[in-house]
Amino acid sequence: MSKLNKREAFPFTRNQPLLSPSEHRTVPSQDDVIAFYRTHERVGWSLSEFIDIPWSELQVEKLTPADVHVVETTMLVESNNPDYVANLIEYFQADQDVCDFIMMWGIEEWKHYYALRNYLTKVRTALTMKDLGSTARGAEIEASVHHALADDVEAVREASSENWGLPMHYLPAQVVANTTVQEFVTAEFYLNHALHTQEPVLAKLEMLLAKDETRHEMFYEHKTKDCLDADPDIMPLVVESLKEFGMPGAYLVDDYGERRKAMEQAAFPTLADKKAEFVRLFSKMTRIIGHDNTMQVFTEGNYLSDGVDDASVKKMRPEMITRLLTRRLG
Ligand SMILES: [Fe+2]
Ligand SMILES: [Fe+2]
Repeated sequence: MSKLNKREAFPFTRNQPLLSPSEHRTVPSQDDVIAFYRTHERVGWSLSEFIDIPWSELQVEKLTPADVHVVETTMLVESNNPDYVANLIEYFQADQDVCDFIMMWGIEEWKHYYALRNYLTKVRTALTMKDLGSTARGAEIEASVHHALADDVEAVREASSENWGLPMHYLPAQVVANTTVQEFVTAEFYLNHALHTQEPVLAKLEMLLAKDETRHEMFYEHKTKDCLDADPDIMPLVVESLKEFGMPGAYLVDDYGERRKAMEQAAFPTLADKKAEFVRLFSKMTRIIGHDNTMQVFTEGNYLSDGVDDASVKKMRPEMITRLLTRRLG
């Protein structure tokens, strides 16, 4: 049973009126859907090939407890895919193109869940076969793997039905703007962790996942831009929704705060890595909503506390952001 006590908050948009389902439409474009499918076919990877990699190919000696923590947490968040798909389909029921995309997207996210889960089972087998479970590090890894594979997926699904869902009061542009950021952050995370882990099979898997997440992010970014081009007056509402952006994990996993810190450390170990990543996120958002609006999102919003209005978490100051950006440019 999940102990998660976080609930939907939406501090900046909570007073928005609900739209009727027929108003939940983006700008139609079948071409975007076909373009996504084409890349899905062209650059798609084989889950079967990944499953067929024998456990003996894993270099578990090179795996750290932090690596396993990363796989476990990402697997849990990716496991929530059926609920996420159901939410999106319900929200976008009047938008055929987006629903068509969601069907393909759902398959890809399921692959992520299943591949990560399969990786954990290989780790467990490798630890047993190589008799590493008796070492302190091996025991820590084994306990983590065992827990993740045993009960946690069920607990996440339970948490998702209670704590989380797509904000039904959002405009379509707010939904796709938030999913763009979510996919971008996920892609960056996988890519950077792949570059830091010493275990080659995990690195290979994370590179594949990062490529998929990047394609997802591109689709949603396109949709966001189309919506904003068609109706520039909704920009302030999009900014408000981005101010309360939080990763879905925060609503799904009990100890997400701790997990988030550990994951950030594993993928962005140095202060320079963390700063560079912030600059990348800032640039990505600038491409969609412009520099001044992005500044507003980060200085007024709850980016650092995953969407929640947490007074103990200081907001970012504009001077600090400018310093980060110009230092990078310089
Ligand atoms: Fe994914
Ligand atoms: Fe994704």
